[in-house]
Amino acid sequence: MATSSPGRQPQNDGCHTVSLSGHVGFSSLPDQLVKKSIEQGFCFNILCIGETGIGKSTLINSLFNTSFDDPVSTHFLPNVGLRAQTYELQESNVLLKLTIVNTVGFGDQINKEDRPFPKNPRFVNHEKPRQQGKADSISKTQLQKFKSKIMSELVSNGIHIYQFPADDEAVSEINTMMNGHLPFAVVGSTEEVKIGNRMVRARQYPWGVVEVENENHCDFVKLREMLICTNMEDLREQTHAQHYELYRRCRLEEMGFRDIGPENKPVSLQESYEAKRHEFYFELQRKEEELRQQFVQRVKEKEAILKESEQQMQSKFEQLMLMHQEAKLELGKKKKVLEDQIAMFIEKKANAELLQSQASVSTPVVSLKRDKDRKNSNFI
Ligand code: GTP
Ligand code: MG
Repeated sequence: MATSSPGRQPQNDGCHTVSLSGHVGFSSLPDQLVKKSIEQGFCFNILCIGETGIGKSTLINSLFNTSFDDPVSTHFLPNVGLRAQTYELQESNVLLKLTIVNTVGFGDQINKEDRPFPKNPRFVNHEKPRQQGKADSISKTQLQKFKSKIMSELVSNGIHIYQFPADDEAVSEINTMMNGHLPFAVVGSTEEVKIGNRMVRARQYPWGVVEVENENHCDFVKLREMLICTNMEDLREQTHAQHYELYRRCRLEEMGFRDIGPENKPVSLQESYEAKRHEFYFELQRKEEELRQQFVQRVKEKEAILKESEQQMQSKFEQLMLMHQEAKLELGKKKKVLEDQIAMFIEKKANAELLQSQASVSTPVVSLKRDKDRKNSNFI
């Protein structure tokens, strides 16, 4: 079954317009949507950024005409934190789940004495007359200059602020006009002051009263009108389509996923997950193969080293064997020479003994005498 979005559709875009012969019933689609939305309720999140004590809680209380009992922060926190609180509000039969996120400790770490802009340009001036040298409020011209300065600083720092949409005929005129009033200069108050015979939200000063909801006094009504009555849904859509989508895509990319495939075609998270799983699997296999190759290479290198040292050992052994053989041969030669010398000596000895025995048989006296003479000569 085909589904369609209730948004604005381009007319006659390859599409034929046909007339109905009778009631069908889909004209109740907007009512169905309204019913469903009312049943479900609406969600709106506000991130309220500003230094401690600037008036954030007072402004939010003024905007929603209630008291959210937001705890007051100290002005000396070492870090900035986010504090989110959710409230359920009901107006007629419409339920709003409002989450207010506060920047706790924002600006506490900087020296606020030399800040370029006063806390509230229009009214702080009167609270510190001596410091400013002025006793009345800044003029509309001064306020306009101050707004222009803020806008030019935003532009020069590349900060894009929300522009009220001008493409919807119903609100185009008011939105375009309101874009020209940005940024809004607002005053908040939780106190009521009697003006004539009615009580109004206002701030009472020695020089007079500043009414929160008086458009001649500040832009509070414009802000409430634009933020809550006219553009809350557009803000929700834009936040979701631009900021949240960008955030989601960046987070997915950080985790290694993408929801846009080649040729910028959208891919489901499941497909993206499967693709990533395959990528991981192939990468794992590649790494395993790389490790296996490294292991085989190392084993080969070790084998080569072992083989080389084995060959070295073998040649050393052969060398030693050769030296041993040579030494053995040399020894054999020496032994032969010695044996020959011993044989020669034995022969000489035998000959000498023979000669001696022959001599003693032929001249025994002379021999005896000579022996005696020799013995005596040893004592001279
Ligand atoms: P933390 O939550 O503690 O950071 O403060 P905050 O930014 O929520 O400020 P909060 O609304 O508590 O207001 C601080 C003081 O500023 C209070 O005394 C308010 O009455 C005062 N204040 C709030 N809005 C305005 C304003 O528009 N003009 C002036 N002059 N004072 C304001
Ligand atoms: Mg507060």
